[in-house]
Amino acid sequence: MRNKSIAVLTSGGDAPGMNAAIRAVVRTAIFHGLKVLGVRKGYEGLIKGEMFEMSLSSVADIIHRGGTMLQTARSPEFATPEGREKALNMMEVFGVQGLVVIGGDGSFRGARDLANMGIQVIGVPGTIDNDIPYCDRTIGFDTAVNTVVEAIGRIRDTTSSHNRANIIEVMGRNSGDISLYAGLAGGAESIIIPEVNASVEDVCKRIMHGRNRGKLHSIIILAEGVGGAFEMAKAIEGKISVETRVTILGHVQRGGSPSAFDRILASRLGAKAVELLLEGDTSKMTSQYRSEIGAFDFDEVLSAKKEFSGEIYSLARILSI
Ligand code: F6P
Repeated sequence: MRNKSIAVLTSGGDAPGMNAAIRAVVRTAIFHGLKVLGVRKGYEGLIKGEMFEMSLSSVADIIHRGGTMLQTARSPEFATPEGREKALNMMEVFGVQGLVVIGGDGSFRGARDLANMGIQVIGVPGTIDNDIPYCDRTIGFDTAVNTVVEAIGRIRDTTSSHNRANIIEVMGRNSGDISLYAGLAGGAESIIIPEVNASVEDVCKRIMHGRNRGKLHSIIILAEGVGGAFEMAKAIEGKISVETRVTILGHVQRGGSPSAFDRILASRLGAKAVELLLEGDTSKMTSQYRSEIGAFDFDEVLSAKKEFSGEIYSLARILSI
């Protein structure tokens, strides 16, 4: 792999810290004498040959920036065998022997397909959802949780002034991790996530319990994977006559300057990806798992189920009674 070329792309939904990961890939690769090409707009750019050579200064001044300087896309064409064949041909045209894919599990499925076609590919877990097995944290999750916690503080102010309840819907696709960790850190009275069955009766009980001991607000964090925020607000008003508002935080959770934690994680995982390529490794995801930086086969990652932290869930319930 030494004296050869690698490419780097970001794919799927962006996440704060992706730029720090790109910077780590580019600088580690150049440090080891590799040529690095940046691919614009994920697999879409790979198919179309939107690649350019990156230098040390291409990644200057980006470690603190949200989004991804390479841009990202979800590519329907790459999901087809013909699309992947085109991508492989384009990599041959540009003389690329290795690829780093920064993204989530959908992106890793594509990365594994490419690896099976004979190109060296390493994945770096970048998604706010924290829904990838064998990862303590995905890049972007910590920043997103902090964004939600800040929003909870603001919403609690107005909720208290009006003595209301507020349902805050947060992202996470099918994972409840953003809700769970932001709910614990923000002191939410109820956390409703796909991993645990919840009832409106339980939410109402917790609201009334708080009110009876003088609480002025009730914060309910609801994961988007559960949905039905407006229906739940109506149900609460119908059952206990507590005025209830809904806030959908949406893409505000995906932007912003990455936290120090995400910058450090991204730097370590990006560098590790290049080291693996240099060692001749392929079809693996780098990760921090049980506090150790390492790598797991795509096959293992893509067939496992993300562990759910029941302990955090129970703790949040106990501490918010
Ligand atoms: O996977 C990251 C994520 O932000 C999810 O939490 C959310 O469901 C989805 O992407 C939104 O995707 P889009 O930006 O395409 O609307």
